Amino acid sequence: MSEEQLVRANELISSFKSRMGEPLKTWQGRLRVGVDLGTANVVVAVVDETGRPVAGAMKPAQVVRDGLVVDYVGAVDIVRRLVNNLRAVLGAELTIASTAVPPGTGNRDSRATRHVVESAELQVLSVVDEPTAASAVLGVRDGAVVDVGGGTTGISILNEGKVVYTADEPTGGTHFTLVISGHYGLSFNEAEAMKLDPGRQPDLLPLVRPVMEKVAAIVRRHLRGWDVSNVYLVGGAFSFHGFVDVMRRQLDVPVLCPPEPLLVTPLGIALYCPAG
Ligand SMILES: Nc1ncnc2c1ncn2[C@@H]1O[C@H](COP(=O)(O)OP(=O)(O)OP(=O)(O)O)[C@@H](O)[C@H]1O
Ligand SMILES: [Mg+2]
Repeated sequence: MSEEQLVRANELISSFKSRMGEPLKTWQGRLRVGVDLGTANVVVAVVDETGRPVAGAMKPAQVVRDGLVVDYVGAVDIVRRLVNNLRAVLGAELTIASTAVPPGTGNRDSRATRHVVESAELQVLSVVDEPTAASAVLGVRDGAVVDVGGGTTGISILNEGKVVYTADEPTGGTHFTLVISGHYGLSFNEAEAMKLDPGRQPDLLPLVRPVMEKVAAIVRRHLRGWDVSNVYLVGGAFSFHGFVDVMRRQLDVPVLCPPEPLLVTPLGIALYCPAG
């Protein structure tokens, strides 16, 4: 990936972050929606026909586990609310969407995800796998994209723009929280709040480092035998200060992590929606 591409990707992600607080008032062509039903967060991204981020919304939610919709009613409720709110804020019709599932998700589970999105009166034009969606934002044609979200570590290896290998393992940021909760005798929510406090992260790093090293070991195992020149890290778990360095030390391949890693996959999902 060239320096220029990296700068462009970082600008795109930062612009999406700004649009989440302040949506655009004008855009070009038909709006496209991306819905990321994650283990930890539901994120909705809106881009215009040219791929410019227009708006976004997010809600922490426990409606999905390891790519499976475990609370269908809850998921429908959140997606409808977020999408309807964006319709109201933008004063625009939102009609077409794309969504995503972890690599290797079966047809039945993909269908459940699709139905949740359709319940918000969106026509689902594509269902992509999560790390592949992220690669669209990063402009990656060669290398590995590793998405560590709340519940899962997804890995996609790309060669000349094609996905040649995908894997998904059930370890993610939720496991950091569980370790903190066990250590301090806190509830999950209390431990999560402690983890998200940047001031606490240096103290918590030694505690969660073994989980980070486990993620690195998982990634190393899946990369074995592939000629990978770079590893791109996305997903909210990389917002934990120090995690990227642990990965850097444990992998033999250069690693890159954009600002706002949590927003990359949702934005990529929207970009994957055909213009219609
Ligand atoms: N600033 C932060 N510091 C540390 N961890 C963070 C921060 N922001 C988010 N996280 C963690 O990132 C995880 C959520 O990331 P993300 O939204 O990418 O996951 P998801 O897409 O919901 O889950 P998955 O992809 O596994 O289904 C949570 O575990 C959350 O605690
Ligand atoms: Mg995710």
